[in-house]
Amino acid sequence: MQIWRKFSQILTLDKAAKKDGRNLIPTDISTIQNASVVFDDETIHWIGEDNDLPEKYLNIKSKSFEGHVLTPELVDGHTHLLFGGDRSLEYSMRLNGADYAEIAKTNGGILSTMRETNILESEKLFKVCIERIKTLINHGVGTIEIKSGYGLSFQKEYELSHIIYQLKQYFAPQVNIINTYMAAHAVPKEFLSSVDYMDKVVLPLMDKLNQEEIIDCVDIFHENGYFTYNDTEKLFDHAIKLGLPFKSHADEFSDNKGALLAATKGALSADHLLCTSKDGISALAKSKTVATLLPGTGFFLGKQQANARDFLDNGVRLSLATDYNPGSCHCDNLMMIASIAAPTLKLNQTELWSAITLNAAHAVGLTNQGAIVKGLAPRFSLFKAKNIDQITYHWGKNLAVNISKL
Ligand code: NIG
Ligand code: FE
Repeated sequence: MQIWRKFSQILTLDKAAKKDGRNLIPTDISTIQNASVVFDDETIHWIGEDNDLPEKYLNIKSKSFEGHVLTPELVDGHTHLLFGGDRSLEYSMRLNGADYAEIAKTNGGILSTMRETNILESEKLFKVCIERIKTLINHGVGTIEIKSGYGLSFQKEYELSHIIYQLKQYFAPQVNIINTYMAAHAVPKEFLSSVDYMDKVVLPLMDKLNQEEIIDCVDIFHENGYFTYNDTEKLFDHAIKLGLPFKSHADEFSDNKGALLAATKGALSADHLLCTSKDGISALAKSKTVATLLPGTGFFLGKQQANARDFLDNGVRLSLATDYNPGSCHCDNLMMIASIAAPTLKLNQTELWSAITLNAAHAVGLTNQGAIVKGLAPRFSLFKAKNIDQITYHWGKNLAVNISKL
């Protein structure tokens, strides 16, 4: 049993959890001052004001956390951090006027990272990812979703999913890694069409990785020039048949009815959503599918942002993630994304904190965490601050304390 006492503040998100992470108002925030928490490896047993700590816990050795804030665990539910090389040249081309889609057509974009990833051996990629993941952890994150998708051949995608699986073993149990299979990230040039690539690589490899019990989830880039509505539906139906959770990159550059399809089919999340129209928003609101916005991407590409209020005010469950990747968002700091997102997307404090903890956990299928309440899993993040306001207020400054080192 662990007894952690006297936090300056604990953010419990109790009310937000009871409201299913939707329709959150500022007074739903649920914080406790001078707070303590009692838990074992699996479960939170008690949470409350330190003055009310039950007598039976008083004689057990405890740790004291004055000057610190405890929050539900930060979850980065959308990253592509398994890649080789970098695309800083494309970044400077964009600053000088080129567009992401134009660059992708002229030998750049995802396919250029594919080339750089393919020249690196597994061992090298594994090591690079360890360093990247440690940086995320130092920024307070405890669960990280990692997508494959820069291999883009049967053999290399197989290898990438296995690297993510090894990373998962390496960081468990302190850090939880979700292994998302995204061979459907772009269509390599040697295939006739997206259908050809889906049939020869994406679906057969999904079967193989599923049989080996390597992957946790599947994803697809549902976008003009990448994968169509029909490809996406086919991938989802295949995942349903295998019993695998699924999600999509939906409506990023155009309204492809991506959110509508994802919500109707029961996806864990629909991500990006810059161009989602009303029918997509109302389908999300009626479903359990989480809308994952990636404001770092719009920010980094100099594009418009998703209209978060449209989603929130219609009762959609909303999360935020980094989208950490070498092209459209080279950012490994979820807390900084949160700081930038809150005023830009007009999120209140409850919406903001739920978006990076409770709802982000649901977006990757973890329904047993995300709030510090009795009975849930003890997944926390720790900050050197007096209250949650100080954490996003000092934007760009890292106040996280690495909890796995305690
Ligand atoms: O989420 N949209 C597709 N995938 C990434 C971009 C990947 C890249 O540009 O390398 C994204 O933005
Ligand atoms: Fe992405």
